[in-house]
Amino acid sequence: MKLTAIVTGASEGLGKSFAFELASRAINLVLVALPNSGLPQLANFIRINFNIEVTEFELDLTQTENCETIFNTLQQQRITADFLINNAGLGNWSWFEEKQIDFYKKQIDLNITSTVLLTRLFLDQINKQQPSYILNVGSLGGRFVVPRKLVYGATKSFISYFTRCLQLEQVNSLVKVSLLSPGGINTKPELLVLNHALKGISKATILEPEQVAKKAIDGLLKGKKEIIPGQINRLLVFFDLLLPNFIKALIIKRKLTATVGTPRLVNA
Ligand SMILES: NC(=O)c1ccc[n+]([C@@H]2O[C@H](COP(=O)([O-])OP(=O)(O)OC[C@H]3O[C@@H](n4cnc5c(N)ncnc54)[C@H](OP(=O)(O)O)[C@@H]3O)[C@@H](O)[C@H]2O)c1
Repeated sequence: MKLTAIVTGASEGLGKSFAFELASRAINLVLVALPNSGLPQLANFIRINFNIEVTEFELDLTQTENCETIFNTLQQQRITADFLINNAGLGNWSWFEEKQIDFYKKQIDLNITSTVLLTRLFLDQINKQQPSYILNVGSLGGRFVVPRKLVYGATKSFISYFTRCLQLEQVNSLVKVSLLSPGGINTKPELLVLNHALKGISKATILEPEQVAKKAIDGLLKGKKEIIPGQINRLLVFFDLLLPNFIKALIIKRKLTATVGTPRLVNA
């Protein structure tokens, strides 16, 4: 019997690459994205080209009841999901005071609340006698202190903490839980432009969404606790662990002073 994977934020970017990666492994899909994002067309394309079943939900995940709608509908259709890919996320690159409170509420609701609720509802419906998989998409931005990404980075720190605790709680079950911590990804035109302007190590940290999705699914199936795609990104994490906090703070302050007015300090 074919397995089924739920992918949130599947209409574009990394989520779309997850959809193709899972489809190429003959896994049925449940795709979720906002209305009017081309999701039905994508679902149709995948159905025709990969010969799998695809269910789509055009829903706003910042509305709590929509998380329940997904699982209630799947239950009615007798679909049990074996994979949950918590990918939908809202990023930004701006000083704290540049965004209004509605933006931060949406960012927290999507990046944190929907991930927690979907994970909780997913665990209620799995078949506990066979393996199930949860992939939470965090970010290297959740590890490093990055001004102008302060709420975003904090939501990704939450995802990291939540995932690590869940891994411990599920240690005696067949549920595998992985944290994906990518650096910058060329997911959309505006990021492509910014990433193209990067130089040196910053440029070397950027990956394509297809590469990230493949690494992530490979790692998830192997039961890896944390997946950090890209050698340079793994090196950055290693140095981050070695450097004392006061030196990191000094580097950030210097970079910040040097880059005021320029597009970005660090990717992800
Ligand atoms: N890109 C990077 O450099 C990078 C780096 C590290 C981590 N990440 C993480 O990777 C994940 C994917 O990022 P991405 O760059 O691929 O993002 P993206 O291109 O902006 O795609 C986001 C996806 O989420 C969907 N979405 C947005 N708001 C939603 C809502 N309220 N309800 C349901 N779906 C919603 C979007 O649907 P619509 O098309 O309908 O808007 C889209 O499918 C995020 O969690 C992000 O934080 C990204």
